[in-house]
Amino acid sequence: MKLSKCFKTLVVATAALALPMSAVAAPIVIKFSHVVAQHTPKGQAADYFKKIAEERTKGRVKIEVYPNSQLYKDKEEMEALQLGAVQMLAPSLAKFAPLGVKEFEVFDLPFIFDNYTELHKVTQGPVGAKLLAKLEARGIHGLAYWDNGFKVMSANKPLKTTADFKGQKLRIQSSKVLDSQMRSVGANPQVMAFSEVYQALQTGVVDGTENPPSNLYTQKMHEVQKYVTLSDHGYLGYAVIVNKKFWAGLPADIRTILEGAMKDATKFANDVAKKDNDEALAAVKKSGKSQFVTLTPQERAQWKKAMDKAHKDNMGRIGADLVKEVYKETGYSPK
Ligand code: LMR
Repeated sequence: MKLSKCFKTLVVATAALALPMSAVAAPIVIKFSHVVAQHTPKGQAADYFKKIAEERTKGRVKIEVYPNSQLYKDKEEMEALQLGAVQMLAPSLAKFAPLGVKEFEVFDLPFIFDNYTELHKVTQGPVGAKLLAKLEARGIHGLAYWDNGFKVMSANKPLKTTADFKGQKLRIQSSKVLDSQMRSVGANPQVMAFSEVYQALQTGVVDGTENPPSNLYTQKMHEVQKYVTLSDHGYLGYAVIVNKKFWAGLPADIRTILEGAMKDATKFANDVAKKDNDEALAAVKKSGKSQFVTLTPQERAQWKKAMDKAHKDNMGRIGADLVKEVYKETGYSPK
């Protein structure tokens, strides 16, 4: 009798001791990989998401952010997401075709957005939601669009008129629309991972490239490019995506908290995007390493007219209905 009482006490004591151990379960780890520097719109937004998501889940979720292609380059990160080696990415919208969703290349059409207001009509409206839904069939869940900005064109010669592009080897992201855009002005486009661009420019493997100023500056591309044309000829931004199975498998309360954190991180990203790009442009100017080229309204109109070919040539690829829906939102009229 006495012994059994003693045994019971022991069992209760052991259970009490064990309780705190089991209550402190290992956190759910979300690996978030990206290719840009930390001080860019995407880099800062990823860090902000980590901060608020970890605070709000009170240690139940740990977000590990890997910037600057530290973990994976462009193509590899997409594969890693599908395999479950990472859980979250924010690739540029120009990089979704290898996933089998070519429609995202609508964002690459030159001159399709004149400003962020027109862009947000798409990214924050029904067309944007419809595009994200297309990822589901690929095992990917789309959470949000994050802004970056409008692209400048850089090279070692001033790119002012469309004739200046002739024969220039220009690095592009892996988008057929960007390939058409460069060919429409006689340039020779070369697809290359973002992490390799600086060196390719430095060694002359390519002559130039395009990117928003925040990427140009943080990768020091302006140090190996003599001229930067302030053309705003196209847009570069992101979709934040997760492995669908991983997302569906999260405890419902955690998923809700993370969705809230993503909503706030998206507002943060979109608030810093323009400011970051303006600051980067000012820093490039201050560095004196490359010279700015501005376009007259006539020269810009000439670029737009020539690059309209990229619209025509990719109607079938992107889907004419989708392109027209975007035209309706943004007011773009083909030449
Ligand atoms: C690029 O490859 O130029 C960009 O997509 C990089 C990025 O993620 O902003």
